[in-house]
Amino acid sequence: MEAVFCNISILIRGEITIGTILPNLLRHVCAKRFDWASGRVSSIVFAVFGIKPLPELLWLLSGVPQGCYLSSSFFATGEIMTKPLTILGLESSCDDSAAAVVRYVPDKKAEILSSVIEGQTDLHAQFGGVVPEIAARAHAEKLDYCVERALQESSLTLQKIDAIAVTAGPGLIGGVLAGVMCAKGLAAGSGLPLIGVNHLAGHALTPRLTDNLAFPYLVLLVSGGHCQFLIVNSPTEYRRLGGTIDDAPGEAFDKTAKILGLPQPGGPSVEQAAEAGNAASYSLPRPLLNRPNCDMSFSGLKTAVLRARDTEVSDQGGLSHQARADLCAAFQSAVTDVLAEKSRRALQVYLAENPTAPMFAVAGGVAANSTIRAALETVSKEFGVGFIAPPPSLCTDNAAMIAWAGIERFRLGEQDDLSLSARPRWPLDTKSPVMLGFGKKGAKA
Ligand code: KG4
Ligand code: ZN
Repeated sequence: MEAVFCNISILIRGEITIGTILPNLLRHVCAKRFDWASGRVSSIVFAVFGIKPLPELLWLLSGVPQGCYLSSSFFATGEIMTKPLTILGLESSCDDSAAAVVRYVPDKKAEILSSVIEGQTDLHAQFGGVVPEIAARAHAEKLDYCVERALQESSLTLQKIDAIAVTAGPGLIGGVLAGVMCAKGLAAGSGLPLIGVNHLAGHALTPRLTDNLAFPYLVLLVSGGHCQFLIVNSPTEYRRLGGTIDDAPGEAFDKTAKILGLPQPGGPSVEQAAEAGNAASYSLPRPLLNRPNCDMSFSGLKTAVLRARDTEVSDQGGLSHQARADLCAAFQSAVTDVLAEKSRRALQVYLAENPTAPMFAVAGGVAANSTIRAALETVSKEFGVGFIAPPPSLCTDNAAMIAWAGIERFRLGEQDDLSLSARPRWPLDTKSPVMLGFGKKGAKA
């Protein structure tokens, strides 16, 4: 029999008499649009809100032609889903192909059952940065394997998974597309619901995965492509207080490493080299500190490192091991000072609106840096605010945070259908003006 791929999404909200209306309605829609009897329908997604899975509905579903995959989600409108959930997450927005399985049980700490990451550092090494085309091809090759391993390591099969969450942006579009296509294939083949996740939401919600942080909290999201202060009011409501107007700090770490001949990714190598350095040996700028808002700038800092290196090379005939370490320490100290001072400003704004049980969290790849974590913790103490920094492995890109952000959306009754598209830009706060500048992941969100 010829298999025709199609997807029916039926969204029903509100009070209806299930015994009479629903089966007829579904039959009517199906019969009208597709050849129900011949089994030409290969995928049906039911999203039914406001009603429970009563026997009549199950009877209707039992009439679905053989070979037709089916998925259904049942939860009441406006209510948060309270059943346990196990979600498979996929991530491919930059240079890490990743898959993870996360289980949520109400009133318990979420459990990461598996988290597989296939990095691409070696593939991009000779180019001194991430090459989008190479990244996209590698994701397309590696994602299936990551999914297979994530399922194996969690000792689960797809049948035991409740939904598939995937990064749908922002990021390098080829990589995001590879992930979205892989997730769509899995969703269509298994009949599982599909949930498109904003990569930034993945980072911003990680403190809830690790520490069950309550809303509203302040988060500094600081990574290779982004840098922004956000008040997180719910999984879908974010208010941006400010951010970088040019490079992201992770990007500045990466460029600094390149300038100083250190391996990529630059963050960990600069941090390691800085341990043997003296930050006071070089005086580097702290851009925009005189501005009273939460905006930041890091591109001048990287240029200052370049100039300092060139001066060192021309004066001393080369860059000594110690000079390199000193420059790394000076650079790291400048980034830390800017992030700490701007955190004070952001905390003032946040505290004025949220004085009860305030919490400050840091997320994103640069949050793996121990000097920066320590400085932000000190600032939090100054303000009497609790501080959360997730473990470094959950700060850098991973799929557990995508699975978790998927759980958060799914619990609210949200999901996507197979028309989900990949987005290169996808700001979390759509009301704030668009941020300028371009990071390694493209336009800032
Ligand atoms: O969150 P992430 O993995 O990817 C993006 O969403 O961008 O962040 C990657 C960035 C890279 O620029 C990397 O150099 C930086 O995070 N990074 C660090 C450290 N570990 C990773 N930066 C400073 N110190 C670190 N220990
Ligand atoms: Zn990231």
